[in-house]
Amino acid sequence: MVDTRPYRKFAPKSQPDYLHLPYVSTKKRSPTKPLILLPHTKTEVTGPVFGHSLVTAADSDLTRQHSGEPLGERIIVTGRVLDEEGRPVRDTLIEVWQANSAGRYLHKSDQRGAPIDPNFSGCGRAFTDQEGRYRFVTIKPGAYPWGNHHNAWRPQHVHFSLFGAGLLSRLVTQMYFPGDPLLEFDPIFNSIADEQGRQRLISKFDWETTQPEHALGYRFDIVLRGREQTPVEK
Ligand SMILES: [Fe+2]
Repeated sequence: MVDTRPYRKFAPKSQPDYLHLPYVSTKKRSPTKPLILLPHTKTEVTGPVFGHSLVTAADSDLTRQHSGEPLGERIIVTGRVLDEEGRPVRDTLIEVWQANSAGRYLHKSDQRGAPIDPNFSGCGRAFTDQEGRYRFVTIKPGAYPWGNHHNAWRPQHVHFSLFGAGLLSRLVTQMYFPGDPLLEFDPIFNSIADEQGRQRLISKFDWETTQPEHALGYRFDIVLRGREQTPVEK
């Protein structure tokens, strides 16, 4: 039987505001009527299950998906996926997508002047292991301009999508890099009012993950919504 106890509500200001005027797209996107809270039923607390056979080891190494090596600074991005109680989220599918080192996406809607890298598609997939760990090898993405306002540039970032245990725990977010001077000017990053919430989106440079002569390491832990833990009476 599926356990449908409700998920915990988000802490105030820890999530992006639906309407954040400096981020122009939110004007059309944000709700214009009060939200209606729906009960969490089986539909919300369960989700798709993915077969491991669909994801290969090559899917998590974005530098080995073509005949040659992509240009740019090779990096390893790793971390753990945990639920709100700090328990590992096992066997969950993580998908990443990103611009190449010149800041260009391999996508028909990205037609600006930066070069395409024939050895870099910019998409990867991996499952977490029994400890909730994941690992990607990729290239540090470049910053890119966008049309939000005059001289708007996105900080370097990697997009993440995670499913977790159910549809309500699905998380689509962006990972940033420490020390990026563009963060303070980015309306997407700053649509999260809470300082600690914003800091959780910035990966940490990690010597343990860094490999000599090969790649710099960054650590990015992710917390997914989970069920409220009910204390067990013994
Ligand atoms: Fe992006």
